[in-house]
Amino acid sequence: MWTGRFQQATDAQVRTYGESVSFDWRLYAHDIEGSVAHAAALAAAGLLTGDECAQIETGLRQIGQEIARGEFEFRADLEDIHMNIESALTARIGPAGAKLHTARSRNDQVALDLRLYLRAEITEIRDALRAMQRSLVELGARYPEAPMPGYTHLQRAQPVLFAHHLLAYVEMFSRDDGRLEDTAKRLDVLPLGSGAIAGSTIMLDRHLVAQKLGFSRVSENSMDAVSDRDFACEFLAAAAILGMHLSRLSEDVILWATSEFAFLTLSDAFTTGSSLMPQKKNPDVAELTRGKTGRLYGNLFRLLTILKGLPMTYNRDLQEDKEAVFDSVDTLKAALGVFAAMLGEARAETANMARATADPLLLATDLADYLVLKGVPFRQAHEVIGKLVALSLDKKVPFAELPLADYRAASDAFAEDVYAVLDVRRSLESRRTPGAPSFSNVAGRLDEWRKHLVDQGPA
Ligand code: ARG
Repeated sequence: MWTGRFQQATDAQVRTYGESVSFDWRLYAHDIEGSVAHAAALAAAGLLTGDECAQIETGLRQIGQEIARGEFEFRADLEDIHMNIESALTARIGPAGAKLHTARSRNDQVALDLRLYLRAEITEIRDALRAMQRSLVELGARYPEAPMPGYTHLQRAQPVLFAHHLLAYVEMFSRDDGRLEDTAKRLDVLPLGSGAIAGSTIMLDRHLVAQKLGFSRVSENSMDAVSDRDFACEFLAAAAILGMHLSRLSEDVILWATSEFAFLTLSDAFTTGSSLMPQKKNPDVAELTRGKTGRLYGNLFRLLTILKGLPMTYNRDLQEDKEAVFDSVDTLKAALGVFAAMLGEARAETANMARATADPLLLATDLADYLVLKGVPFRQAHEVIGKLVALSLDKKVPFAELPLADYRAASDAFAEDVYAVLDVRRSLESRRTPGAPSFSNVAGRLDEWRKHLVDQGPA
């Protein structure tokens, strides 16, 4: 493609080192879409006849179909997907093919392809994310009133509902969805027409190209446009945060699936056995998902590091951006898919959760609140209940069985009605502040999510 200036062929090691078609072939459909739009702009500017433009489009579509069928022969000596397609096109249709790269560089071409690719993948990931949310909501809705201990420091803290715990993740995933939506908005700029760095002396209608490719804006600075990968960083950052959420959920699932917790039973289809220990049933899907967070974080750092030392504008370092992006896309789609399916077959062990929630100490805060409502300042109430906790542990007598005399010895604000407080259902039902896990709050939120997730369509 550049034989004009060179007297020596590229060294074989350099070719192997520099080729990217072994991975950037994945951009082919977008590369073709971009070239078809570019050809239309060339035709509109009178640089291609209608016939040439039609030949280009037909040739490109044929190449696209061959690649899709696995029949296209990629050539590493042609470096990347862009030159593979262009060269195949020219071999096929002759002179018209040789005109396609007018007023275009691979620098603006690859920037375009990556945007088109990510735009499509973000839509798919958002669908997968919604399917994941739906799966959590459905699991919660199967046990809408099942209490479970809520934990802080992984110590039993206060009673919550299993569905409330699951809905916490639905909220996290909805923020992830918002981040992906934002990324898609900022990505919505056409870089094509920026050329190698300084646009072109040939006047093409960039707005026509933008419109054909579904972009709402064209880039305003050709130097920025060929070297900007912010949109890919933003995607990888959103992917990393989403991965962190998936990893936290994985950790909960792994804990719940232990014999020690025994809050959740995963189906055989989504667990694995041990080659040695016959009794084992391992939550590999959750462990792998937790482990894959490393890739998602790594990919973000990979790209940030690639970008940090680049002088303006395009530098070949940028070729290293794609595998990071591909890997995060693949990782997220796989993780969301398998996780949602796994939750679809999971069973909550409500009896075990109820037993754990019956731990009377979970109601210590409720007792403090009781005193507050009798006029005792909270700090004092906290102290009083702390002493009662010690007493209860010491005498090995649960709160509900301590005699009223013990309560009144700790504070004379206690009366017979204290025993009514010591009930998990009542405790939950009283947690009616917005966002708290009363039965009616949680049922309402399950309902809202169901409607919202159905309204939003696919997946
Ligand atoms: N394969 C290259 C990449 O991924 C395409 C752009 C190459 N541009 C260049 N001037 N060598 O970044």
